[in-house]
Amino acid sequence: MSEDSGHNPMSILVVDDEPVVCSSCRRLLGAEGFAVETVLRASEAQKLLAAREFDIVITDLRMPEITGMEMLEFVKQHYPDTQVIMITGHSTISNAVKSIKQGAFDYVPKPFTPDELLAVVRCAVDKRFKSLERIHRVDASLLRRGFDNIVGASRAMQHVYDLIGKVAPTDATVLITGESGTGKEMIARAIHNHSQRREQQYITLDCSTLAETLLESELFGHARGAFTGAMSDKRGIFEIAQHGTLFLDEVSNIPLEIQKKLLRVLEQREYKPVGAEQVRSVDIRLIAATNRDLPSMIAREKFREDLFYRLNVFSIGAPPLRERLEDIPILANHFLAGACSSGDKKIKGFSKDAMGLLMRYPWPGNVRELKNTVERLVVLAEDDTLGSGRLAEIFGASASHGGMPAPRTNEDLKRARKLARESSVCDIEKAFVLDALARNDWNITRAAEDTGMQRTNFQALIAKYNINLSQK
Ligand SMILES: Nc1ncnc2c1ncn2[C@@H]1O[C@H](COP(=O)(O)OP(=O)(O)OP(=O)(O)O)[C@@H](O)[C@H]1O
Ligand SMILES: [Mg+2]
Repeated sequence: MSEDSGHNPMSILVVDDEPVVCSSCRRLLGAEGFAVETVLRASEAQKLLAAREFDIVITDLRMPEITGMEMLEFVKQHYPDTQVIMITGHSTISNAVKSIKQGAFDYVPKPFTPDELLAVVRCAVDKRFKSLERIHRVDASLLRRGFDNIVGASRAMQHVYDLIGKVAPTDATVLITGESGTGKEMIARAIHNHSQRREQQYITLDCSTLAETLLESELFGHARGAFTGAMSDKRGIFEIAQHGTLFLDEVSNIPLEIQKKLLRVLEQREYKPVGAEQVRSVDIRLIAATNRDLPSMIAREKFREDLFYRLNVFSIGAPPLRERLEDIPILANHFLAGACSSGDKKIKGFSKDAMGLLMRYPWPGNVRELKNTVERLVVLAEDDTLGSGRLAEIFGASASHGGMPAPRTNEDLKRARKLARESSVCDIEKAFVLDALARNDWNITRAAEDTGMQRTNFQALIAKYNINLSQK
């Protein structure tokens, strides 16, 4: 938080009808690194405030036209978290006290010394920081709820939310593509939840889990006696999902023979259960998903081109996690909160290094892998911060067990190299610290001396790896 604001100076608006007060505030506060605007008239101030938010407003209490009290009321009404400091003459002290009851942060009596003003401003900055942190959290949680439970504030995800919002109310067939673990199923569910069919059934059929013969009767149902073992009529998915939404997951796994039948259903909006006489009409909304590249399957004649066009009326691509790094901290914290609420562990968050590692890892398994990783970290956690050491261990283990697939692109390769370097450095550093401590009865000063490292640097490594000395 405070690091971010280092790039973005706090903005202060000074409103006072005395030019000398304005100019001295500008000089004084400007020299402290604040972005200062000064105006002589309250109406000017309101114009500026209508255009943008200021972190702090310093206003004279007694002014012509609009009084300081009105100014305060205006600011608090529009920007409740902006801190207002009142400047008061002797005669207005009682009003100044009243203004604090109305929500002013504090007041500075005129005439004031630079130090007096700065002391009050610094306190107001502190308060503002705290409220910014609060706002930040609220904002993040709002952004998280892009659609239902889908978390992510990146531009790529905003685009996905837009597409969901656009297509959901229509009855169009949707094809959702994206690598494994990118949230395709969540997107499908969100489309249904925001469609006119939301009160109706939502049925998922995972096309990769069924044998060809079963798939056909699963989809269309069969009549009694249609084949050996068909003892009674069986309702197919199309009948069960009638009037609702049917989600065909892993649609690329549908055998060519069934693809043909599915195409006919989509074209004619009717089908015949296996062995039945009567055709049935179909009124369903179809959503399909795949993590395969259908056009290349079409080229290899593994997928019907005509079916592809029927499914691909509207397409949504779920972006891989490595292309939306800014979602990583949001998702990680979201999964952390989930993991903590289901267990009895209280964990404050990730260490800076751990978050750095999370951001650099290429996430071949995308959001699912991130979720699993955070859950494992929570299970393994020994104190209230999740550190980079454990994380490097998890990444290291998955790499050495072949769990981490080979990088796909040059970018991935670079990232993977960096990660490998960092995680092995982490291992070495951690072993170094633990070893030195163990040799020296867990006395930091002695351990640092023993290694020839400065105590502060040694201490920093202890903090980096969350080594808990009190347990030893
Ligand atoms: N944006 C997201 N916000 C919150 N959770 C997510 C998000 N994306 C994915 N997840 C979680 O990650 C896991 C995988 O998501 P999902 O099953 O939707 O992925 P998928 O794209 O269908 O994967 P696959 O291709 O392997 O079937 C789920 O546990 C889901 O809750
Ligand atoms: Mg899925």
